[in-house]
Amino acid sequence: MADPMAHNELPQKKKLYIETVGCQMNMLDSELVVAKLRNEGYELTLDIGQADTILYNTCSVRQHAEDKIYSALGRIKTIKQQKPEVSIGVLGCMAQKDQGQILKRAPHVDIVVGPGQLGRVSELLAKAKEDRAPQMAVSLARTGGSRDHVTESFAEYDPLREPAMRPTPHQAFVRIMMGCDKFCTYCIVPSVRGPEQSRPPDGIVEEARQLAEQGVKEITLLGQTVNSYKFKTPDGRTTRLSDLLERLHDIPGLVRIKFITSFPNDMTDDLLQAVRDLPKMSRYLHVPAQSGCDEILKRMKRLYTVALYDDMMARIHETIPGVAVSSDFIVGFCGETEKSFEKSIRLVERSRFKNSFIFKYSPRTGTKADDLYADDIPEGVKKRRNNDLLAVQNAICAEDNRPFVGRTVEILVEGPSKTAQRHASEGFGPIQMTGRTSCDRIVVYEGNARQAGELLPVTITEATPMTLFGEVMTTALVGIGA
Ligand code: SAH
Ligand code: SF4
Ligand code: F3S
Repeated sequence: MADPMAHNELPQKKKLYIETVGCQMNMLDSELVVAKLRNEGYELTLDIGQADTILYNTCSVRQHAEDKIYSALGRIKTIKQQKPEVSIGVLGCMAQKDQGQILKRAPHVDIVVGPGQLGRVSELLAKAKEDRAPQMAVSLARTGGSRDHVTESFAEYDPLREPAMRPTPHQAFVRIMMGCDKFCTYCIVPSVRGPEQSRPPDGIVEEARQLAEQGVKEITLLGQTVNSYKFKTPDGRTTRLSDLLERLHDIPGLVRIKFITSFPNDMTDDLLQAVRDLPKMSRYLHVPAQSGCDEILKRMKRLYTVALYDDMMARIHETIPGVAVSSDFIVGFCGETEKSFEKSIRLVERSRFKNSFIFKYSPRTGTKADDLYADDIPEGVKKRRNNDLLAVQNAICAEDNRPFVGRTVEILVEGPSKTAQRHASEGFGPIQMTGRTSCDRIVVYEGNARQAGELLPVTITEATPMTLFGEVMTTALVGIGA
């Protein structure tokens, strides 16, 4: 008898390869793009050589991020020459910023899709094939804060999402705001991501609930200035971030909630009290300072002074015991003298950040700083300042991690450490696992993969500037945390 399955074979799935650069917003966007394409018959591959569709979700924040993508596009030119049926897409912030220039520089690209149009990726891939012509979908140009920028993409969330694209199966990002209205003079983000919009709280809570039902233990709320979150309901009531946190805190299954990135001016007391009083809140805040010098902050149009930042740090530490704060700095911004740079060093010294992300100023076409000021700090000086500030920060990391030795802390286990993943095929013995404390410190310990997603007490035995090493407590001691 003929095999009934023989005529009933499933159509071959299209293989999708995707690379993501940039911030957590982009990681979330990639998850949503992949979720949508999966529903339309694509499957993920990690092997670019096997892919039918190659997507880059891009970042414009610094020149280096763009260079990386243009060189990747250069490398895959041969793939397109050998297999013209392969589709290539440039998505995200660089697509919005460079638009048609991408097709000029890399004519083998099939689709260019800005962050506000990502819901249309599959439609555009199909149209590019059908018309045998590249397709571009970007939002309208943004003119100094007007609301004509389309940012409708993914306003409606796909509850299925895509677990394979999450940081780990137990961690997920949830966008609570889109865009940015701050227009810091150095920054391209407002012009590629559109105006600031807060998402309705009911949708956020519903999404978080669904994620928790799928086994997610930790959500990270995302926004460029996440603590500016404000949603006005038609009855005139305003939901602040602190109100939203209270609602999210009630969701069964979630054990940890974080939010990034905060803006110093909007670090209100109600928010700090919510972080203190809600036990699921991570005692961790990311509040970029950018510079420790008032004249530079003014040129950057950061809207606060160093005194305000210092006052905010004092309020944070007074309100939330055991809190950790991290920061971002730009070194070598236009007009930054040695004196102004030293003020950034002093700010790092007195703020004792858990960590700082330090960037060399990179002029961005279309920003105010690029129009108004000369990029007058030589690359070598930027590099030295970057190293110097990093050295100060690293010394603080080492000093502040050391007292953890001997203490028992509660960690949320994320999964096997990178080295353990590499050696996973070697056997079933205990492996190196990683997790984070409530104040976002990374802890590595010997355990097993089944512990992923659990809260575990770990006694710290060793500390390096970036990592704490520990041992799991016996079950008799479960429940003791720090
Ligand atoms: N919304 C966040 C940051 C978004 S961009 C905030 O306001 O804090 C992430 C970081 O990149 C910024 O904090 C800043 O330190 C850095 N950055 C942004 N534009 C830059 C530029 N043109 N050159 C160098 N670093 C930049
Ligand atoms: Fe950029 Fe400033 Fe907005 Fe942050 S707040 S995204 S640095 S413009
Ligand atoms: Fe980059 Fe866009 Fe994020 S420019 S930092 S990916 S919002």
